[in-house]
Amino acid sequence: PLAHEADLVVFGGTGDLSMRKLLPALFHSDLEGRLAPQTRIIAMSRGGLDDADFRGKVDSEVRQSVPDESEAWQRFLGRLHHVSVDVGGDDTSGWAALTRLLAGHEQRDRVFYLASPPMTFGPFCRDLHGAGLITPQSRVVLEKPLGRDLASSQLINAEVGRYFAEEQIFRIDHYLGKETVQNLLVLRFANAFLEPIWNSLWIDHVQITAAESVGTPGRRGYYDHAGALRDMVQNHLLQLLTLTAMEPPARNDREAIRDEKVKVLQALRPIVGDEVSRFTVRGQYDGYLDEPSSTPPTELSKRVETFTAIRAEVKNWRWSGVPFYLRTGKRMPYRRSEIVIQFKDVPHAIFPGGSPNRLVIRLQPEEGIELHIMAKEPGAGEVTLKPVPLKLSFGQTFTARVPEAYERLLSDVLAGNPTLFMRRDEVEAAWRWIDPILEAWESSSELPEPYPGGTTGPAGAHELLGRSGRAWHEEETP
Ligand code: BG6
Repeated sequence: PLAHEADLVVFGGTGDLSMRKLLPALFHSDLEGRLAPQTRIIAMSRGGLDDADFRGKVDSEVRQSVPDESEAWQRFLGRLHHVSVDVGGDDTSGWAALTRLLAGHEQRDRVFYLASPPMTFGPFCRDLHGAGLITPQSRVVLEKPLGRDLASSQLINAEVGRYFAEEQIFRIDHYLGKETVQNLLVLRFANAFLEPIWNSLWIDHVQITAAESVGTPGRRGYYDHAGALRDMVQNHLLQLLTLTAMEPPARNDREAIRDEKVKVLQALRPIVGDEVSRFTVRGQYDGYLDEPSSTPPTELSKRVETFTAIRAEVKNWRWSGVPFYLRTGKRMPYRRSEIVIQFKDVPHAIFPGGSPNRLVIRLQPEEGIELHIMAKEPGAGEVTLKPVPLKLSFGQTFTARVPEAYERLLSDVLAGNPTLFMRRDEVEAAWRWIDPILEAWESSSELPEPYPGGTTGPAGAHELLGRSGRAWHEEETP
């Protein structure tokens, strides 16, 4: 069914996220007929642009990254508007202009997408409310980071919650929009063979990696205050962990799924006190401080982690004793996100040289699933074993284009479906687990372990697994 007519108001609408992700995703949706004909996209910023300026900017900055369909592109440009606004300030003319633009369209779905720093979320919602723009059909989308610790995230949730009901609040974690992440639920809950072995009896440990080859050029202003733990682990990696570890929900429904996810977060064993140095590793790539940026390096820059590895545990019946190793970093040798389920050895080996099975769920690049099984190498002599992968490549199996995460998520927002968005209790449970690690790092006199760019992180990351005889999954080089 065609989405309802909507007015999508993007605050921070001329920023990087909007230009690189949101507008291309919306154009794809438009191209595939998923935007109602009258749907409008209204960017708000401090920029002082008018509609024509904004359309010109999008035409020159976005067009080259989307399919060349000129008629559809002209129609898309026609949907765009721009309103200049002074959030929380004295100049209310922007709000008056937005009110005029929205007047007469109160029956449409209204989506307020806040792609701006989290400290603006509260003031923005207050101003929206003050201008009388929040209708029963309104939703608000919050981009990460949702705070920098539990207390600040509670504050944001409370401020936004004053003006919007929880069902109207969509907290984005774009990893949940990735195809393979959604496939994880299908893999687990639409196939019978995995569930009986998806537990501590059969699984030795789990690895969740989000490796990036890029550094953070030009982003120091943000990154110094974030670091890998806040930027990637609190949200993306913990979300992957919940989907891997959750119990089967009774229904494929927004609350049933999110109820199960939050239980996993609540079952994470806290890492506190001197355990922090045993179970977590932080690293910084050489050259981080010399990277070009609009802000010069500070004391904070020296202390920020561009890499982290953590040994987590889910304390419940299914996962007792199974470590979940999380790792993410910038300037690693490759861009790769994957979940690796490492099974235990066979209970009784009758062939020499076997190695345990491993299931690799690849999120990017080249979405797919690999099951590493032991096979006999052909030959009439002695039996020699070799691990070989059974491979499912989504790109080769399905001809349909794999949509970008934001496309899926924006469609869900417009359709009012919050299943792939984080509920307040999920975000707060995640912070509750992260906070003691942050505190221990912040009060430590040690700096992050250095690692050369283009490597798989500092020595500590390898010791974290090595001391129990395990190793990170690395792709075999052909
Ligand atoms: C963002 C982080 O949330 O995710 C970035 O802020 C990171 O630092 C990005 O680069 C990674 O996303 P993806 O989709 O490229 O894996």
